[in-house]
Amino acid sequence: MITICYNIYMDNYEDFISTVSHELRTPLTSIRGFSQTMLNSWDKLDDESKQKFLKIIEEQSNRLIGLVENMLSVTKLQCTNLILKEVSVKPVVNTIVSLIKNSYQNHQFFVEINENINKILADRDKFQQVLMNLVENAAKYSAENSHIIISAENCGDFVSIKVVSTGVGIDEADYERIFEKFSRVDNPLTRKVEGSGLGLFITKNLVEKMDGKIAVESENGVTTFEVLMPVSNIEQQARSKCAQ
Ligand SMILES: Nc1ncnc2c1ncn2[C@@H]1O[C@H](COP(=O)(O)OP(=O)(O)OP(=O)(O)O)[C@@H](O)[C@H]1O
Ligand SMILES: [Mg+2]
Repeated sequence: MITICYNIYMDNYEDFISTVSHELRTPLTSIRGFSQTMLNSWDKLDDESKQKFLKIIEEQSNRLIGLVENMLSVTKLQCTNLILKEVSVKPVVNTIVSLIKNSYQNHQFFVEINENINKILADRDKFQQVLMNLVENAAKYSAENSHIIISAENCGDFVSIKVVSTGVGIDEADYERIFEKFSRVDNPLTRKVEGSGLGLFITKNLVEKMDGKIAVESENGVTTFEVLMPVSNIEQQARSKCAQ
């Protein structure tokens, strides 16, 4: 089973191993360094420094956990059996927003979803993971106090879910690249925030496994990620046209 799962990397397996090793080594080196300093110089350190070092160890441990979880998700992508069911979009969006709000209390989140929105055919957990990645990115790569809008509307055989944020923006030249494994856009903000560059790779793969589509557009710092998810029951679908 594991061999099959690893097929995803067979094209550039060595690149994958070296990138993973590097990504793991950075937080581990920092955890080891700060814990050694604390053990060797405990009596010489003031409380403020101890607090600061422990905070770094905690942050780097969280980074490591996030990284390992993302890598497991990537590994499982080819093996995951999806459980496709009828899913209501709004409750999932509300759950994600309330989770993300805890970590990004200075952002303002707006959910714009009408009651007449069609149900989608999706694996609830995976759809939740997709939204989690997109909304978390929207918060991570935008300015404090900025607005994040999550909207959904019927769009023929699909439901269109958009996550809009204002921040660093993405150059058109990077639209495709950001969905590749370990790819991050190099700018002052991405350098400041932690990330492994796996989130959108996982997101795109999950969306496509559920027969959906994902696209990005960014203009004047306003970035929109749009996910199109298939409607659960084609007969029921609203005959609405995509808003242009
Ligand atoms: N809403 C956004 N606004 C601006 N840039 C974005 C946005 N979402 C993603 N990006 C850019 O795309 C890159 C890839 O995103 P991705 O989610 O794959 O990785 P990450 O956030 O760096 O790490 P992680 O694996 O922890 O999600 C980011 O590093 C960032 O440069
Ligand atoms: Mg991300």
